Amino acid sequence: MAEVTRAGIFQLGDLSVTRMGYGAMQLAGPHVFGPPKDRAAAIVVLRAVVESGITHIDTSDFYGPHVTNQLIREALHPYPDALTIVTKVGASRGSDASWNVASSAAELESAVHDNLRNLGLDTLDVVNLRVMFDVAAPTEGDIEEPLTALAELQTKGLIRNIGLSNVTAQQVAQGRAITSIACVQNMYNLAHRNDDTLIDSLAEDGIAYVPFFPLGGFSPLQADALSHAADQCEATPMQVALAWLLQRSPNILLIPGTSSVEHLKQNIKSVNLHLPEDVLSSLDKIGSGKTQD
Ligand SMILES: NC(=O)c1ccc[n+]([C@@H]2O[C@H](COP(=O)([O-])OP(=O)(O)OC[C@H]3O[C@@H](n4cnc5c(N)ncnc54)[C@H](OP(=O)(O)O)[C@@H]3O)[C@@H](O)[C@H]2O)c1
Repeated sequence: MAEVTRAGIFQLGDLSVTRMGYGAMQLAGPHVFGPPKDRAAAIVVLRAVVESGITHIDTSDFYGPHVTNQLIREALHPYPDALTIVTKVGASRGSDASWNVASSAAELESAVHDNLRNLGLDTLDVVNLRVMFDVAAPTEGDIEEPLTALAELQTKGLIRNIGLSNVTAQQVAQGRAITSIACVQNMYNLAHRNDDTLIDSLAEDGIAYVPFFPLGGFSPLQADALSHAADQCEATPMQVALAWLLQRSPNILLIPGTSSVEHLKQNIKSVNLHLPEDVLSSLDKIGSGKTQD
């Protein structure tokens, strides 16, 4: 049995995935734009991901753009049956690396076809609608039009499961009234806990919550309480951050991003870590957004 399965398996829509997954965004160039410095090394990381037993890779065609999907195809196609690739649409990249809204029906259809072509697939396993009222944080706004367009592409057989990203609880409710939602992907980690209430309500309904920036993203998590917890558990701070998420709720799936095989191995080891109560309560000092509990 692969070590990664110790964290368990979760039903993501109609697909089973290991709760310990992998996020491919770090494989593109600086600012998630252009090719990686070392293409061969990126291929090695992706193959190590699958060799470890991980069955959930998160990507998007707007990483690079096209770069991470093309790397995934080069490294892993034809894909193992068990592998689930989750992608996202709703944004595009400017030539200056900017992130722009691309959520008209025509833009979404074109993005789905870009993903299919660059990943070498006939159907996408899971597509998240990346909502962009504010690129940096969930912001209220109507998602009916883009989500309905995505649901039509699902009806055409181009998409198996639909998820939402960068959304409020109200948008999740609106989305669920339009179509079945397999997962929600928002920013959440030890230090950023605005979604506590949302996570618990999704857990009740068996919907996956997939935190992006689980390690803090472009500013990796740093806190005295985290370093202290890591010493206490004889682990690294990043392993504690991941173990905390796994323990936080059974519907949380991990997609830590890394361009390093060494970091990938360290991240996988977090599945063996059990954080005792005293460590959990000391880590609570780090969290923000607790007012919504
Ligand atoms: N839906 C959205 O809007 C959205 C937004 C952002 C990201 N995402 C998805 O979420 C995934 C995860 O987010 P992320 O990659 O941006 O952030 P992250 O997983 O929080 O952190 C990645 C950073 O941590 C470093 N790192 C990873 N493992 C480490 C370890 N064991 N020790 C020390 N440093 C380590 C990485 O550097 P190294 O490369 O050197 O390891 C990288 O700088 C992405 O890959 C992407 O698929 C989605």
